[in-house]
Amino acid sequence: MTESWTFAHMTDHHLGSRRSYRFREDFECRWRSVKRQIAESGAELLLVGGDLTRDGDTHEFEYLQAREDLDTLPMPSFVIPGNMDVGNKHTEREGPREARSDIALNMTSERLTLFATYFGPIFWTFMHRGVRFSGFYAAVAGSGLPEEQRLWRFLEHLTKLPPVRHHVAMMHYWPYIESPDEPNWDITKPEEYLPWYFGIDQPYRGRMLDMLREAGVTDLLCGHVHTGRPPEELGDMTIHRAPSVSSTAQMTDRWDEIETRVGFQLCTVREDDIDVQFVPSDDQCEGEMVVWGPGGHPKLHERDYSVAQEQPPLAPDPWLLESTGR
Ligand SMILES: [Fe+2]
Ligand SMILES: [Fe+2]
Repeated sequence: MTESWTFAHMTDHHLGSRRSYRFREDFECRWRSVKRQIAESGAELLLVGGDLTRDGDTHEFEYLQAREDLDTLPMPSFVIPGNMDVGNKHTEREGPREARSDIALNMTSERLTLFATYFGPIFWTFMHRGVRFSGFYAAVAGSGLPEEQRLWRFLEHLTKLPPVRHHVAMMHYWPYIESPDEPNWDITKPEEYLPWYFGIDQPYRGRMLDMLREAGVTDLLCGHVHTGRPPEELGDMTIHRAPSVSSTAQMTDRWDEIETRVGFQLCTVREDDIDVQFVPSDDQCEGEMVVWGPGGHPKLHERDYSVAQEQPPLAPDPWLLESTGR
């Protein structure tokens, strides 16, 4: 009998900056509380499931800030990007929301590469105490970017590794919203926009899930929606859809069983399974907080950086306008 040990998983802490056109002190307050709890949890390592930033896709500064912040924790952290860090899942059609251009929000290779200079490769796998840990940004699938080919090669590689008792994978997006064989949601329909936004489309979803099963993944960790759901068994794999560390739960009217409190997951590795427990933030930070600027994905030319409360204000990274048309 091997002794049990723990690791932590957190996702979507969306740390922003007072030098920005938008800021939420409640996000910062919750992260501060969760960070202290993680530091004191005894976890041997920390998995960070993406959306570390509020606007990392346009402010390189937020990568630096997030990296330095994680490095003050007493355990090593292993990071994948989220869409707020590197851009969204690709679309060739615009969604119904006036305030954003979905096409302009498509992730770019430039941003994925820049992210990797701060946090390491966007696809990784390693062993710790006999457990395999694998991380990848699933939304690369279907992008047609060079990184997509690397993703499929990486997943193929996972299927050829020696079998292990526990294999934990982390991917930011949910693989599906309701069921693994649901049809693709239509980005142009207002009622299907959010399910489109949060899940992975076919045929990539099926291919990915097949490869994860073949790779012996026992536990799949997801974030992105900011709403916790009960664990779901898919064959031998358990899907854990985690709430955010700091941010507002979304699609909450869709299901009865949801977790809308913020917090992180403490995962105990035992002989036969991994026990994933949600640990709510000690402080949900619901008091009066400083908040400014819009939510969502505002266009670059509509951002007002003069409202920044700390100087000098940030600005969108200069090459972005030309490369993405945002
Ligand atoms: Fe998020
Ligand atoms: Fe996200």
